[in-house]
Amino acid sequence: MKALVVYYSFTGKTELVARAIAQTLNADIRKIEEVKKRRKPFVFLTGGYEAIRGKRSEIKEMDFNLDCDLVFLGTPVWAGRPTPAVNAFVSKADFRNKKVVLFFTMLGISGKATKILTDAIESKGGKVIDSFTIKTAGIEAEKIIERGNEIGRKYKEQYFGESS
Ligand SMILES: Cc1cc2nc3c(=O)[nH]c(=O)nc-3n(C[C@H](O)[C@H](O)[C@H](O)COP(=O)(O)O)c2cc1C
Repeated sequence: MKALVVYYSFTGKTELVARAIAQTLNADIRKIEEVKKRRKPFVFLTGGYEAIRGKRSEIKEMDFNLDCDLVFLGTPVWAGRPTPAVNAFVSKADFRNKKVVLFFTMLGISGKATKILTDAIESKGGKVIDSFTIKTAGIEAEKIIERGNEIGRKYKEQYFGESS
């Protein structure tokens, strides 16, 4: 059983969770990066608008081959939806026969994010087996990392026959 962690993160919170999962499972980790740099003052407008429209942004070349059995896919919630970068990744990767665990970070309202991403992955042949939403507003980094460790431990026991 091989796990892979793939994530997009704009301000680093989702990255904390992604790294913690990967570390706990000793899994490979890949970061989705956009070609165009987003500027912070405008991201709520432009990013939120693109997320609402279900847009895909241009992302940097990366390994789209999911050479694993279990994929952990993480994104911040933007306007109650997945991010344009993750939409782009999902459109390019082959999810056939992959089990997928979703994780989202957010201020507090995940809206339609889980459903939209689940539908997108399942329409490409993947099976979403679990999903986590993690609040980040006013939460210390250590606590966010601990949530990632918990997700990793859950799957370590379930799929990798170990508890730590
Ligand atoms: C454009 C934009 C839209 C957002 N929309 C939501 C939202 O609908 N619900 C929510 O709870 N948080 C929302 N947030 C907050 C982020 O989801 C939250 O800060 C997240 O943890 C950031 O992850 P990151 O540091 O990995 O980028 C939004 C942030 C941005 C930049």
